[in-house]
Parts: sequence; structure tokens; C-alpha cells
Amino acid sequence: MTRSKWLDPRRMVHGVKWRAQKQVARFRTPSPVIGGPPQGDSFRRAVLAHYGVEDSASLPETQKMWADFTLTAAERGFTAVGMLGGTYALKGKRVLDVGCGYGGFMVAAGRAGAREVVGIDTNPRVVELAPLLLSDYDVEARLEQVDLIDPAVPARLGRFDVIICNDVLEHVTNVEAAVGNLAAMLARSGRVFLEIPNGNAVKYVRSDGHYKIPGITLLDFEDARRLHQAFFPDATAYDTYFYGTVDYYLAAFSRVGIMLRMLAVPHADPATVELLAEEVSALQSASEEWSMVHADKPPELMAEIQERLASYLAEVNNRLARYRGLSDPAERELVGTSLRVSYEVGNWLFEGHRPEPG
Ligand SMILES: C[S@@+](CC[C@H](N)C(=O)[O-])C[C@H]1O[C@@H](n2cnc3c(N)ncnc32)[C@H](O)[C@@H]1O
Repeated sequence: MTRSKWLDPRRMVHGVKWRAQKQVARFRTPSPVIGGPPQGDSFRRAVLAHYGVEDSASLPETQKMWADFTLTAAERGFTAVGMLGGTYALKGKRVLDVGCGYGGFMVAAGRAGAREVVGIDTNPRVVELAPLLLSDYDVEARLEQVDLIDPAVPARLGRFDVIICNDVLEHVTNVEAAVGNLAAMLARSGRVFLEIPNGNAVKYVRSDGHYKIPGITLLDFEDARRLHQAFFPDATAYDTYFYGTVDYYLAAFSRVGIMLRMLAVPHADPATVELLAEEVSALQSASEEWSMVHADKPPELMAEIQERLASYLAEVNNRLARYRGLSDPAERELVGTSLRVSYEVGNWLFEGHRPEPG
């Protein structure tokens, strides 16, 4: 007689895992009520007034990207806070939003029940606009115009249970000092949430996430600054100082005792890796027209971009060839995932904490 399928140990393990996951989902998924709509629209009106439009759809491409990034600050904050565990993770906690921008992550932390929300940013305009968003969502927070890399900041602000640092590390002049201060402000059992753009993502090499300039993410800061100035002579200073690799950030945080774990790591099956390969080919074709896009730009910068692009493409294509040559499915999955993390994911998400001693 065959044993009941329900007594199959694999099924039983599966059942227990399924029930456990359901419980975790029940308690950890933030209620959508946390998000909720804002009670006012003073922030939205102020942002659109700044751009002189009634709707961001009427703006030129790059300005529309900036306006939409600003206008979606709260939605982006809710998503990030949801990934951290929503109310479950933030209720009663002391939360710091570093490079808080327009306050969207502070709004989300406040709505998730944080005991105290503090936001810091170097940009005075931000420190004027963020209170509008906070008041539209009826969230109280302390805002300070300070620089993350200032050595006096940890003593001034104290320690936090949760630190959010979203799209900021690429803008600091000294990543090591920034990471040191983040560690100094993280409570013993605290957690840090980071979003960091990947300068090697094919989509950002093709058109960067800050200015939509082709090839700029491949350049060192000084050349990137000159290229940006050639594109936008009247714009404010270029402030994307550094695009690091995953290894770089893991090492930088590890040195100060924080272990990072990547969130939302993509799975890689052959179809998704081949889609990435198509993107790489499309980048190669698009780059053949860059000399026209860049016709009036400094020729030595164009030459530098083409040289760096050639090495970049050689490396990606080598890794794709290695992937295609693998026969072991588990190894293919691993190498494919690494390819997607290195060249496809546009913005890496990390959660960091101090490992338990011993
Ligand atoms: C791309 S914006 C991100 C804003 C916000 N975190 C978000 O995701 O909506 C980067 C922000 O970091 C701020 N920033 C850059 N360097 C900083 C530093 N050294 N200390 C504090 N804030 C900084 C900028 O002023 C800007 O508001």
C-alpha cells in the first residue's frame, strides 16, 4: 500500500514552510492604510510651481524625470518602508533619513509609527520643501541642514534604530566618511536601508539616471563633471561623485562592522539573461550614434567614453559567453544572477545590520 501523499516528509516540510510564510506575510506586510492619501497638496503645488507647469507631463524629458522623482517621494518612501517590514519594523523606533530630500521616506516612517523621525540634508531648498510634504501627510519630523560626512554629526544626532539612505551615497564627496558616520549613528541592533544606483547598469550607461547623458557613468568624476557642464552649461554643479560596485559597498560597510544583504536579487533563467544580452547589443548599436549626439562636446571626453565603453562591452560579453558555456544548471543560475546584478539592476537595495557577536 502506498503511503498517503500527505505523509510525504517533503510535502509536510513544504506545508510548514507555506504556513510560516503566510504568518510572516500577515504580520510583516505593511497595511496599505500606512500609505493612505495625503490630506493636502501644498507640496505638489510648490513643486509644479517651481517648474512653472501644472503637470509634469508638459516638461522636457530630463526636467520631467527630476519633477517626477520629487513628486513620487512619498510613494518611494512607502515602498522602501514596506520592504523594511512596515509598521512591524518601524513602530516605536527612532528613524533617521539621511539625504532626506523632499521628505518622502520621513513621511513613510512617520506613518509606520516611528517614535521619532529625523531627516538631514545639505540642500537648503530641500529643507524648505520637505515640511510641506510632511504637513500634507500630517507627519511630525525634525529636519536639519547638515552634511552626513561632518564628523560632529553622530554626537549631535545620537543613535537610531533605523537609518534610511536612499540615492545619497553616490552624491557624497567622501564615501568612507559617510559610511563611518552611518555606522556611528546605528544602534547596536539597528538596521540601515540603502538604495544605490549602479553606474554599470546597461540602462544607465545608455542614459544616466540623473541627467540622461549617454556614457557619463563610465567616466571618473572630473571628466563626468566636464561632460555634464558641456550638456548643461547653466545647471547647478555636477554632484554625482562616485559609482561604486557591489563589492565596494560590501567592503566599505564591512570595515565598519555592518553586514549588507542585497534585497530583491533577481533570479536568472536563460530567458532573462538573453534579454540582458539583447540590451547589451542595443547599447552597442546606440553607442555608434553617440558621436553625433556628442558632436559639439569635448572630443577628448568622447574618446575616453568610447575607450571605456569598449572595455565595458568586452567584459560583459566575456561574462555572457562564459554563462552560455556552462552546463550545470545551478552554476548557470548563479552566474546569471551575478550578471543581472552587475549589469541589469539599475538601483541596488541593501539592508544592513551588525552581526551578532560570537
Ligand atoms: C537623489 S536625492 C535623494 C533624496 C531622497 N533620499 C529620495 O530618495 O527621495 C539625494 C539627496 O542627498 C542629499 N545629499 C547629498 N550629499 C549629502 C550629504 N553629504 N549629507 C546630507 N545630504 C546629502 C542631496 O541634497 C539630495 O537631497
